[in-house]
Amino acid sequence: MSASTIVPWVIGNWKMNPTLSSIQEWTEQFGQCLQQAAISEEQCHIAVAPTFIALSKVQADFSLYSRKVHAVAQDVSRFEGTGAFTGEVSATLLKDSQINHVLIGHSERRELLADDTDVLRQKLTNALQTGLTAVFCVGESLEQREQGVAEQVVLQQICDIASVVSDTQWESQIIIAYEPIWAIGTGKTASAQDAQAMHAKIREGLKQLTSSGDKIAILYGGSVKPENAEELATCADINGALVGGASLKADSFYKIAQAFAQAK
Ligand code: PGA
Repeated sequence: MSASTIVPWVIGNWKMNPTLSSIQEWTEQFGQCLQQAAISEEQCHIAVAPTFIALSKVQADFSLYSRKVHAVAQDVSRFEGTGAFTGEVSATLLKDSQINHVLIGHSERRELLADDTDVLRQKLTNALQTGLTAVFCVGESLEQREQGVAEQVVLQQICDIASVVSDTQWESQIIIAYEPIWAIGTGKTASAQDAQAMHAKIREGLKQLTSSGDKIAILYGGSVKPENAEELATCADINGALVGGASLKADSFYKIAQAFAQAK
């Protein structure tokens, strides 16, 4: 399989949004978009990551669609199984609720919620051992980019998890999301050329870590919107998008999925 045959993933990251009534509206509108112009599962995987309290509702609503739209957790506990860990949600409990995908290592969690390398390794280990697929996020700050160390930082973030990911897990349970921090929620997107250049480096790095390096989806994230999705989607090593702000509007999110479905 060459990197270009990877089925793209378009994943909405709703962060600490929206209210239940807005979710209701979103799911209805997204359902209408799907009816008007279907995107097949062979063309593009589609997923949304709501808050924990909305996960089950979203999953139930999505089950009424004519195609699979995955409900993804935004985070997972570093503690495994069940037990006295107030406020935590383990990989075991996610799996028990038929949630099969989880975001790990988003820069907001790294920066604001003390998810350091050790914590991320624990979270990833639990997720993988429980059979979840992890969308592992990496990305450099503006300062690091200006210092010319962006590549080094991003490749290090991937190497940091290598000790807890087996060859078969790389192949079937890991998706990488490259999200330059300076592009998240700022309206500034990395140019398609810059994003592709970093994705190509990530691909090279993955190939050194695993024989499945060519099969791993590498998503771009950071102010992806309908206006820039088409160009990003044509880049050889950009296998989808992790979308924050623009995923809160059903029609914008749908257009982004359509751009990736049509380009690949
Ligand atoms: P954004 O967020 O699309 O609003 O920039 C992306 C993300 O944080 O995943």
